[in-house]
Amino acid sequence: MKSYTYIFASIILLIAFVSSCKNPNPQPELVTGPYAHQVDSVMALMTLEEKIGQMTLFTTDWGSTGPTIREGFEEDIRKGRCGALFNSHTVAFTRHLQEIAIKESRLGIPLIFGYDVIHGYKTIFPIPLAESCSWDLAAMENTASIAAREAAAAGLHWTFAPMVDITRDPRWGRVMEGAGEDTYLGSLIAAARVKGFQGSNFDNADKVMACVKHFAGYGAPVAGREYNTVDMSERMFRDIYLPPYLAAVKAGAMTVMTSFNDLDGVPSTGNRWLLDEVLRKENHFTGFVVTDYTSINEMVNHGYAVDEAQAGEEAANAGVDMDMQGAVYQQFLKNSIDSGRVALEVIDLAVRRILTTKFQLGLFKDPYRFCNEQREKETVFAAAHLEAARDMARKSIVLLKNEKNILPLTSKKTIALIGPLAADGTQLIGAWSGAGEGDKCVSVFTAFKERSAKDGFTLLHAKGAEISGDDKKGFSEALSAARKSDIVIAVVGESKEMSGEASARADIGLPGVQQALVEALVATGKPVVVVLMNGRPLALPWIAEHANAIVEAWWSGTEGGHAIADILFGDYNPSAKLTMTFPRVMGQVPIFYNQKNTGRPYDPTTKWNTRYIDLPNSPQYPFGYGLSYTTFAYDSLVVTTPQPPSKGEYLFARKDTIQASVKITNTGTRSGEEIVQLYVRDVVGSVTRPVKELKGYEKIKLEPGESKNVVFHITSDQLRFYTVDMIYKAEPGTFWIMVGPDAERLQKKVVRLVE
Ligand code: NOJ
Repeated sequence: MKSYTYIFASIILLIAFVSSCKNPNPQPELVTGPYAHQVDSVMALMTLEEKIGQMTLFTTDWGSTGPTIREGFEEDIRKGRCGALFNSHTVAFTRHLQEIAIKESRLGIPLIFGYDVIHGYKTIFPIPLAESCSWDLAAMENTASIAAREAAAAGLHWTFAPMVDITRDPRWGRVMEGAGEDTYLGSLIAAARVKGFQGSNFDNADKVMACVKHFAGYGAPVAGREYNTVDMSERMFRDIYLPPYLAAVKAGAMTVMTSFNDLDGVPSTGNRWLLDEVLRKENHFTGFVVTDYTSINEMVNHGYAVDEAQAGEEAANAGVDMDMQGAVYQQFLKNSIDSGRVALEVIDLAVRRILTTKFQLGLFKDPYRFCNEQREKETVFAAAHLEAARDMARKSIVLLKNEKNILPLTSKKTIALIGPLAADGTQLIGAWSGAGEGDKCVSVFTAFKERSAKDGFTLLHAKGAEISGDDKKGFSEALSAARKSDIVIAVVGESKEMSGEASARADIGLPGVQQALVEALVATGKPVVVVLMNGRPLALPWIAEHANAIVEAWWSGTEGGHAIADILFGDYNPSAKLTMTFPRVMGQVPIFYNQKNTGRPYDPTTKWNTRYIDLPNSPQYPFGYGLSYTTFAYDSLVVTTPQPPSKGEYLFARKDTIQASVKITNTGTRSGEEIVQLYVRDVVGSVTRPVKELKGYEKIKLEPGESKNVVFHITSDQLRFYTVDMIYKAEPGTFWIMVGPDAERLQKKVVRLVE
């Protein structure tokens, strides 16, 4: 009797103890589907320590993408203490590590090798933000698939990409890694990239698993400062930030990475609502969730866990399957299970998810199937990949200004190429270029030199200044070259280290004395073309006003110099359009096109409204903006609905499709491409709505004089949002249908959704 009382009391105590955890253990889900039996048979052999090993990911000492490096990862493999490694690549190295796992660990479970293959493995493509400016989904899918092919040929199984964080603040260094500020476009791009990386199967070992990151809301850190807190309404989160992650999951992404930030006070890595409710239950994600680099440990700094042991429990119970680099699971999870704070089922579920991907990758059949040295040699830097890199770079370069059609460069006898980035090819690979080789990049200078003999112009070159610092000693040489030339090309911008992770900038102007250099070049009276290389929108009001032409080249990758020359000399007609707003000055940030109207909308002629007293509200260059060497005329927008119009409004019902069409004509003398954009405004809602939202676009190619009718089909489904009751639906009422070449120059028609 006494012992029963004791057991009963202990159970009660245990229940009380477990329910005092912030997150009670989630209900284990039934694992069925492909490989369930094979996974079960492996799991039946595993000890608890080996299971926890599968939930552990360590970096090798081949590179650091975070603050800590561990020693002894080979011993961890031998002891079955890790199931995956990152920052390890090449066939030779991955084969060596895989051999340890297969031959020297007790169960010989194969390892997964992951790496940040963000915009190319060896052949580096433009940074993702640049690529997004092409609005060309097929091209982006293609570059992701080439990146996957090269990475897989180098022994990799897994890329930590795509990064799909919506970003509205150019101070944040990681804007370079995403697809800009728009949810609709960002979602399409997220899906395209997942398809490119993963394809539909691993039969040829030429694809890698995608990892959608950083879940969630990482792109909205307060003040644009890296790793900072994120706090927003659930409505804003679901309407604006969440859709790209979900689009990537829907496209089949096999893994998801948690973000460093907290969201509404709960770190993503311990956020059961995010991982279990939103990701798994609402959106049926069945792959595995990995943390970001030591983000379990960081829950202690967040003030969310008293120690790493508790942080590990929060993460495991929230649904985190794999611990990246923190070794928290390795050190503490067994004890948490023994003490009942984490259920064994939680561990089993995580291990099942991880082992399933190993079966999907075919690693249990042949752990070395991605290890073929010959294939590696033939694949990396293949000629077709370099050609694709050049093409993608051309598609990504945005022409921001072209006064008096000064570009393309024709019949120029002497060209002065100036600036710290003109001849420095190593910078072109940009941030997050992993195994990329800067010295393989074609610089602008090299590309110009290749042309100078053929095209018969004299090329003068001077660096003028460094990217940073205040040394102006190089100015005189640069100015003397400028004076001897017919035109000056100033290649200026940021260093590649100024964007990417941990590279937030409080001042988003040109660093160092580069602005002064451009001012001095303009003062010579020679026409000046500014070519920008950078990882984020910059605020350059003086240059926007005084340079004769501005070309936003971003970090354009291995073939960047060739692509920039193709644009400058007119072999390629620029067609890209911005996917992030360029502010006039830093003080306007965050600035984005889909803002709200407010109760006192902007009116520069009166005082009491939402405005600055020293500047217009409008940006330097809006979302969707970009020029071409030709011109396009838009005829009047025509909207038709199946119902008869009433009082100037076109009526439509939920089941109806609205048609919005506009005829576009190439009115210039060159063949060119135009990105025709469709925006919608929901004029009155149960909650306030943005003044416009992108809902569609079409990229068309027109020969001089040619016209095309672009037709958009709009259904009420596209007008859904989270209402005041948090129901995702379209509300009846008035909508503006707007079409134009960018987010500012729009024609509108009014339609009404009737019940
Ligand atoms: C930290 C970064 O936030 C993440 O994007 C990256 O994948 C990991 N480090 C691994 O390098």
